Amino acid sequence: MKKINSILTTITLTVLLAACADNKKATTTEPSLKEIFKDDFDIGTALSADQIEEKDSIADEVIRRNFNSLTPENIMKSMHIQPEWGTYDFTPADKLVEYSQKHGMSVVGHTLIWHSQLPQFARNITSKDSLAEFFTNHINTVASRYDRKIQGWDVVNEALNEDGTMRESIFYKLLGEGYVTEAFRLTQEAAPNTELYYNDYNNEQPSKRAGCIELIKKIQDAGVRIDGVGIQGHWHVGRIPLKEIEESILEYSALGLKVMITELDVEVLPRNFQGADVNQRMTMKDDPAFNPYVDGLPDSVQQQLADDYAALFELFLKHKDKITRVTFWGVNDGQSWLNGWPVPGRTNHPLLFDREFKPKPAFYKVIEAKKN
Ligand code: XIL
Repeated sequence: MKKINSILTTITLTVLLAACADNKKATTTEPSLKEIFKDDFDIGTALSADQIEEKDSIADEVIRRNFNSLTPENIMKSMHIQPEWGTYDFTPADKLVEYSQKHGMSVVGHTLIWHSQLPQFARNITSKDSLAEFFTNHINTVASRYDRKIQGWDVVNEALNEDGTMRESIFYKLLGEGYVTEAFRLTQEAAPNTELYYNDYNNEQPSKRAGCIELIKKIQDAGVRIDGVGIQGHWHVGRIPLKEIEESILEYSALGLKVMITELDVEVLPRNFQGADVNQRMTMKDDPAFNPYVDGLPDSVQQQLADDYAALFELFLKHKDKITRVTFWGVNDGQSWLNGWPVPGRTNHPLLFDREFKPKPAFYKVIEAKKN
């Protein structure tokens, strides 16, 4: 009886393995994003800590197949890489670099100086001297370690308000507005072989864009290097600001900078504010109207999402001489931060791969955009 059971188990396993292999075959006949756009721009994705650890083999296959640029979603942010004063945890970032080298991909470091996701000790700093010490040590230590190992750094993230004025962050308040130029100067010294970027959301919108241009000019006028500007690209279905994006690509590029779309996702759920400030929350009643697509996207929204992505990629292709990279903020819908922000526990569908890692209609429309 035992023997029969073990034979049955072996047969079941064999059948299951064959089915998995078949499934895998099915996915490998899909087009690859990085191949399709290889003459145009890099195609990136943000990787979660688990994906960097290669914990999910299906995710890993989709990543290796489609992307040639990797941004760590969280692990290089200061709260993770320097959790205590002077104590660094480089293990996940080193693993990411190793993974990228093994697969011939590049890495974008995200991010050196940002007011969010700071370690607790830094948030508690009240004196200018202590903050300047943290600022200098953090940049020197982290940027120098990854020079020649990563392609570029988001040196400063989100320094601006919506009206283009400087955000009153801890850095602005204690170090003054010159802190942005100083961050680029320090990174340039610590990582002379690494590209340096300024990154923000909504910096395609006219007022914020004007502030962003002013900020970039200050860096350039100080004789400090800045190589690129990142437009995060957290947009909303049916409301993609194509005109503003195009104007921004042209204006940023006219400053001599590479333009990058760095955190692309197209949200489908209701929202009562714009932007992507991770500290902003939306309080909502327990009303199912605020989480309408728990069982999947209706065809009309799926189609709108696909059309929006197609329009975006048509625009990116039109300006491929100015755009060096388009990075999605996550590999599939299940991973997206938009399931938890700005309202926890919703079911969002903002990316090209669904929760099962299957390409969505938007994926095929993006591929078609290239063919047209
Ligand atoms: C988000 C991550 O995706 C989340 O996992 C984390 O909890 C909060 O931060 N702008 C940025 C990114 O520059 O770093 C943010 O990432 C999304 C908005």
